[in-house]
Amino acid sequence: EKDGYPSFMEKEIHDQPSAVGDTLLGRLDENGSLTLDEIKIDESVLRSIDKIVVIACGTAAYAGQVARYAIEHWCRIPTEVELAHEFRYRDPIVNEKTLVVAVSQSGETMDTLMAVRHAQEQGAKVVAICNTNGSTIPREADAVLYTHAGPEIAVASTKAFLAQITAAYLLGLYLAQLRGNKYKDEIATLLAELEAMPAKIQRVLDEVEPQVKALASSMEDAGSVLFLGRHVGFPVAMEGALKLKEIAYIHAEGFAAGELKHGPIALIDQGQPVIVIVPSPRGRDSLHAKVVSNIQEIRARGAETIVIAEEGDEAVREFANHVFYVPQSPTLLQPLLATVPLQIFACELAGAKGYDVDQPRNLAKSVTVE
Ligand code: M6R
Repeated sequence: EKDGYPSFMEKEIHDQPSAVGDTLLGRLDENGSLTLDEIKIDESVLRSIDKIVVIACGTAAYAGQVARYAIEHWCRIPTEVELAHEFRYRDPIVNEKTLVVAVSQSGETMDTLMAVRHAQEQGAKVVAICNTNGSTIPREADAVLYTHAGPEIAVASTKAFLAQITAAYLLGLYLAQLRGNKYKDEIATLLAELEAMPAKIQRVLDEVEPQVKALASSMEDAGSVLFLGRHVGFPVAMEGALKLKEIAYIHAEGFAAGELKHGPIALIDQGQPVIVIVPSPRGRDSLHAKVVSNIQEIRARGAETIVIAEEGDEAVREFANHVFYVPQSPTLLQPLLATVPLQIFACELAGAKGYDVDQPRNLAKSVTVE
């Protein structure tokens, strides 16, 4: 069942091109538009929503954070992301004009289920993004957009995360298409870019995996690893840190790169490993230059800089102890590529330490208690 891989996690990392491809399957048509028959919520309701709230826990919440950047940009609908267990207890402002998006691999996470019920009681419509057919959250939601990642066995989520992000992109592009706005013309291009992602993820596996494994297996003694990212790279950084905590039991934290000088840079000391996710230098804003200068700052203070950047980005080399290049993509889609080396890193490091990567201590695959 592990298809010859030493762990389910490693197999599932390798399942990702098809997890993303299968999640796109049947939802795009030849003329560049999107059909989501599963969204059985009246189109007039979807046109009238004035806020989106994404609720989820753990990795699924990081997928939600990526979704927020994409949905706000493409649809111009204010979008919040909230951990499901916090949502219910802060008396959130939710009503008939709110669309709640509940993201859950298992569909059984109790915190997320309770948040779904709370939102529905306030009159909100709920779309579930879920990987498990017929589980509780999709049964209770008003509509479901299934991710087609296939069963995920390892406790640490990998392919479900990429599939959740993919489904969230589809939802965002669908709403943009439905509501019509200035990004309407970009939809066809973005859908084509999405269709190109499975092959690009495969390239990361073929070309980058051996390099990441070599580095990870030399870092068994790391006491702490920091992750930095900006824009969509920020949730990717937090996801990378979560993977390392979960399976390698190494202290890890993800930071927004811009926050560095507001405190975390004090942690940088000689030899401190820091993994930095660098945005595309082809982006329209100055984010790339800012993140490169962050790398320079931490390197000057002794950090061991491990950089994930886009192919062709030579500017990062000067300040990087190690660089892993991922294929070019539109900035908003980069998490589908930049996450993969982080998953491999955690899996390999945990393996090198002799841990059971599929069944980490103290954790359950699905958290069915509050
Ligand atoms: O089944 P769900 O997606 O609702 O689970 C949410 C979290 O419990 C889950 O993502 C957890 O954080 C994983 N262990 C992450 O690897």
